[in-house]
This record gives sequence, C-alpha cells and structure tokens, in this order.
Amino acid sequence: MSDDPGDDMLGWDESVFRNEHVFEIDYLPETFKHRETQMETLKYSLRPAVRGSRPLNVIARGPPGTGKTTATQILFDELRAQTEVQAVRVNCQVDSTRYAVFSRLFAEIFDYEPPSSGISFKKLFSQITDRLVEREEVLVVALDDVNYLFYESEASDTLYSLLRAHEAHSGARIGVIGISSDLDLDVIDELDTRVQSVFRPEEIYFNKYDQTEIVDILRERVDRGFHEGAVGTQVLDRVAEFTEEQGGDLRVGIDLLRRAGMNAEMRASRSVEAQDVEKAYDKSKYVHLSRRLGELTDSESALVEVIAENDGERAGDIYEAFNDQTDLGYTRYSEIINKLDQLGIIEASYTNVEGRGRSRELTLQYDSDAVLERL
Ligand SMILES: Nc1ncnc2c1ncn2[C@@H]1O[C@H](COP(=O)(O)OP(=O)(O)OP(=O)(O)O)[C@@H](O)[C@H]1O
Ligand SMILES: [Mg+2]
Repeated sequence: MSDDPGDDMLGWDESVFRNEHVFEIDYLPETFKHRETQMETLKYSLRPAVRGSRPLNVIARGPPGTGKTTATQILFDELRAQTEVQAVRVNCQVDSTRYAVFSRLFAEIFDYEPPSSGISFKKLFSQITDRLVEREEVLVVALDDVNYLFYESEASDTLYSLLRAHEAHSGARIGVIGISSDLDLDVIDELDTRVQSVFRPEEIYFNKYDQTEIVDILRERVDRGFHEGAVGTQVLDRVAEFTEEQGGDLRVGIDLLRRAGMNAEMRASRSVEAQDVEKAYDKSKYVHLSRRLGELTDSESALVEVIAENDGERAGDIYEAFNDQTDLGYTRYSEIINKLDQLGIIEASYTNVEGRGRSRELTLQYDSDAVLERL
C-alpha cells in the first residue's frame, strides 16, 4: 500500500478552489452581464445628478436574486469614484423606519453616527439638508428592499420627506431609487395620495434570468473561483437547473457552487461531480429562508418558532402560546402575522369555524424542521 494520493486525489495542501471569495455573499462581480437595459435606464435617471440637478426618481422591481442590489452598488461605486454626487444605499430590512433611514443617511454623509441621546427627526433632517445645500451636493438615496418600509407602514412618511426635501429646505436636491423584491406589492398604489402626487418614478424591471443566462453568469464565477477543469459543463448545467427551480435566484446557484466544491473536497476529489451538487442542494435551496429569518427581530423570530411548533393551527390558539413567551399584545401579534405573511414565510388564510365566524389559520410556507433548524 502506498501513501501517495492518486492523481485525481487532493492532498491536504490542495483545494478545488482558486478563489473562494467569489462565492461570498458580499462579493461584487467584476462583470455584470444581461442587465444592459436596466443599467442604461438607471444611468439615464441619475445623469442629472452629475450635472448638479435633481435626478429622476426610480422604482426597481423584480424577483429575488436578479441583480437589483448589485446594479445599484456598481453604479454607486462609479458615482463615488468619478463624481461629486453623494450616493447612499440604505438596507430597509435593517433600517425599517423613517427615523432609522435618516439616521443612516446622516451617518453616511457626516461619517459619524447621529447623537444616540436621540435628536428629533426634524433636526436630523435639517442637518442633512443644510450640509447638502452648503456643499452644493446632490444626494441619491437607494432604499433597498423598500418593501420592508411598507410592512412597517413607514414608506409614505419616508418617501414624502425625501421627495419634498427641496420644498422644506430650499436648494436641497435629493433623488430616490426604491428597490422592491415583493412582486405582490404595488409600490405606487400603496402610497398615500399626498406622496403619489409627487412621485412619478421611472420604472425598471429586473426579470428572472433564463437558463442560458444563468449558465453564462455562473460560468464566469466558476472560472474565477475554481481551478481549471474542476467544474464541467454537465455539473454547471445541473446547478443552473436547480437555480431555475428556485425562481432563478442567482444566490442559490452561487451557494450551490461553493457547497458542491466543499463536498468534492470532502471526497478529496479534484473535480466537482453531480453527486456533490445534489447533496449541496438540500442546504442551498434554503438560502431565501435563511436570509429572511436572519433579518427578523427577536419577537418576530419568536412567533415563527411558535408557528413552526403549532403549524396549521388557528391564530387565536397560537396567540396564547406567543403571548406566554413574549408578553406582547394582540395588536403587535397581528402586525407581525401580516409581515410574515407578506414575506412569504407563513400563509395566513381565513377559514369558517362552526359557530365562531371567520378565523385565521397560520401555516408555514417551508418545512418546519428546516425553519426550526435555522432560527
Ligand atoms: N448579471 C449578474 N452577473 C454576475 N453576478 C450577478 C448578476 N446578477 C446577480 N448576480 C449575483 O447574484 C447575487 C444576487 O444578486 P443581488 O443581490 O443583486 O440580487 P437582488 O435582485 O438584489 O435580490 P433581492 O431582491 O433578494 O435583494 C449576488 O451575489 C450577485 O453578485
Ligand atoms: Mg437586493
């Protein structure tokens, strides 16, 4: 028996990966294919800002993992490097109230956090606009995952303040890019009429990538991330099929590639095979779920947990368990149910109960073990 690993076996100091970073969540791709029209419309809308005028407002919509955030980041990086425009992206999953959004803007513009002792919204707002006017800067704000502002009923107030800034503070020039991945949400329709009357955005749609586009984009990632020959055409096709199965979300494909690579390494193999992809899919298919659960507050997670343990039961019964655990009242409970429903984590459907009228039934949209495991 020899200790020599065969030619197709990996040694301890070897890897199938050339650069594993390209599969990380915050990696900004070097090339951004199949989004030419969307990028053109975005640039067209932002161009006035470069000339010192107020840019056109934009609503960008499309299913998850279709490049909306990436498009904005690429453009914002260019703006920061080549122009005087202040470009700030706010993640509304994290900053989901008007006050939080403006605190984030403040921190980005001034390079330090606003006083934590709490200053009034009015003050926060005028400090930002004073600074813009004083420096003659145009501000472009990307409200990423703006749907979260709607779930918290903060969207109208936030947009109203941003869009009317030039009226309240003469000379302030602010443009807004709202990004939503909730296709059931009609962004314009859901705003108050006072906002609708000042908000006539350009609309940009990020459609799902088709199979060939997915392969094309992932091939590039493979070439950068893996050693030559580690991922064959058939394996990549399989990854693309799975990605398509999960609504064309590229995150699934990228996660699959990384996990499949790790599975190949576990077998000490130099090449990724179909079996590595199949095995990875059991985890990768839940990237949506993990991402959604990761952004929930403690009380929201607590409710998901209670629902997972009482799947399919009536809202009234689940409330008892939720209240025992969190002490929160029925109003907050209902709000959280609506949010989880809009996020697609649960479905809340009305059923008729004998003698008790209509009642809501709460069902998880995912396998309950998969949910509990990730909480
Ligand atoms: N055309 C593309 N070329 C290369 N990589 C891409 C492309 N489109 C998307 N990606 C990659 O896919 C992943 C998801 O993209 P992104 O985060 O921009 O999607 P999104 O539309 O903002 O999704 P969500 O609505 O869920 O926030 C990222 O890792 C990104 O690098
Ligand atoms: Mg995004």
